[in-house]
Amino acid sequence: MSKQHSIPQHVAIIMDGNGRWAKQRGKERYEGHIAGVESVRCVVRAAVECGVKWLTLYAFSTENWGRPQAEVDAIMELFCKSVVGEAPELIKQGVRIQIIGERNRFSERVLQMIDRIESTTAGGDKLTLVLAFNYSSRREIVLAAEAVARRVAAGELSPEQITESTIAEHLMTRDIPDPDLVVRTSGECRLSNFLLWQASYAEFYFPEVLWPDFDEQEFKRALEVYASRERRYGLIAESTETK
Ligand code: FPP
Repeated sequence: MSKQHSIPQHVAIIMDGNGRWAKQRGKERYEGHIAGVESVRCVVRAAVECGVKWLTLYAFSTENWGRPQAEVDAIMELFCKSVVGEAPELIKQGVRIQIIGERNRFSERVLQMIDRIESTTAGGDKLTLVLAFNYSSRREIVLAAEAVARRVAAGELSPEQITESTIAEHLMTRDIPDPDLVVRTSGECRLSNFLLWQASYAEFYFPEVLWPDFDEQEFKRALEVYASRERRYGLIAESTETK
């Protein structure tokens, strides 16, 4: 049986458990998100160190707008503060930031911060940190379908010419390789509208640890779990050995 021993090119993480971490300590939920930013720092450092080239973090889902306004505001504020405060260190580490998600609901300030962090880190060549912010996979697929339908209506494409690549090229992740490993912390075993198309052949790992407790060591453990898995891409073991 062939085993995948290499480092994953792309790790995608659903950072879950901030609220529970805070409640367990008698703190407000937003304090869990603040603690979660330290885990983001740890994971970025570890990803650069281990040679992971793409790291996607689910920072805010489209559904998260339904949380109490104070919590939504706290996450937006934390995002703005973090992207400004962390920029020098990210640039030093060779990290490029890319944001995926719909931008129509963000305030002017958040939009400015997004433009600023994407442009100031554009030269990073060690790791691309993709932040999924106001992201929903189903919505992303609907938007891709709309864009493809428009091309068909304009006569640029016939329905028979639509392939998997056509769809992939119209997703927000068009320039990003599919994730090799998807991690969700806090013991929840769901994808929650995250990278549904892209994660078709990913390996999944669901550690019990809450996001604020996920550190470099936990990240390296996730890479070890990945290395122990056998990826077959729908084939049988012998035929994947050249992959
Ligand atoms: C999930 O935990 C976490 C979030 C919805 C927000 C994550 C945001 C950050 C870590 C901070 C901002 C991010 C960046 C990249 C600067 P939860 O609140 O659903 O936890 P629970 O399931 O225990 O309630």
